[in-house]
Order: sequence, then C-alpha cells, then structure tokens
Amino acid sequence: MGHAMPEMLLGRLNHVGIACVSIDETVAMYEQLFGATVSTPKFALPAQGVWVAFIDVANSQLELIEPLGAESPIHGFLKKNPNGGQHHMCFEVADIIEARDAMRARGATILGTGEPRIGAHGVPIIFVHPKDTGGVLIELMATPGDH
Ligand code: CO
Repeated sequence: MGHAMPEMLLGRLNHVGIACVSIDETVAMYEQLFGATVSTPKFALPAQGVWVAFIDVANSQLELIEPLGAESPIHGFLKKNPNGGQHHMCFEVADIIEARDAMRARGATILGTGEPRIGAHGVPIIFVHPKDTGGVLIELMATPGDH
C-alpha cells in the first residue's frame, strides 16, 4: 500500500498579520517608506481584543493589529517583540470545519476552543498552534464571498 498524500488545504494567501504598538504609526511608516495607503482604516474588533486596519498590496493584504483592552492576546507578543513584528499568516480554506477537523486528524492543535470565530473579514477563522507549524502562527479563514 502506498502512502496517501493528504488533501491540500491551503488556498490563497489572504493576508500577513503584523502586530503593531500603534497602527497609526505603522500606517504612517508604510506610507512614507513604500507609498502604501491604508485600504481599510482602523476599526475595533472587541471579540478578538484588537484594533485592525488593512493595507492592500497587489496580491494580498497586510493586516495591522494593535491591542484593544487589557485582555488582548497581542500583549504577550508585544512583550516579546516590543517594536511589533510579523504575527501570523492567513490562508483561505474551502470549508473551515473540514479544515479544523483535518488539522486535528493530522495532529495539530487549534488555539482556543476550536470553535471558529468571526474574524476581521467577517468570515469564520481558526488559528493553528505554532508549536505544530514550525513556529509560524497560521490562521485559516473561510474563503470570503462564500458566506
Ligand atoms: Co489575521
């Protein structure tokens, strides 16, 4: 019997998440250095404990996240990375529940309860623990437009 290749789950790279001390200052830096403009101005996402803004690039987005509230999950990251830094990568998946179940069946840990939450794009998301992914926090999101 041959070794069955698991189904490919990663769709389009939707965005790269960047933790910021200040979204306003980070947007100003991208403007000054790269001529990039903010495409979605800063808004609060209290359920995730973050402020969010997006900068569109030709084939993807930068998701700028800043702590919102004392319980924000970003505080720990900024403690280790006081100037901010690359926080996660997000890939689209065809079906978020199937993707979650496949991750678990393949031995990876889903952060939190494992129940998908609604992310900054208004579609369900999960995060795969970086201990299982070579140190990179991986966000999986239902493909926008399917909902
Ligand atoms: Co994200």
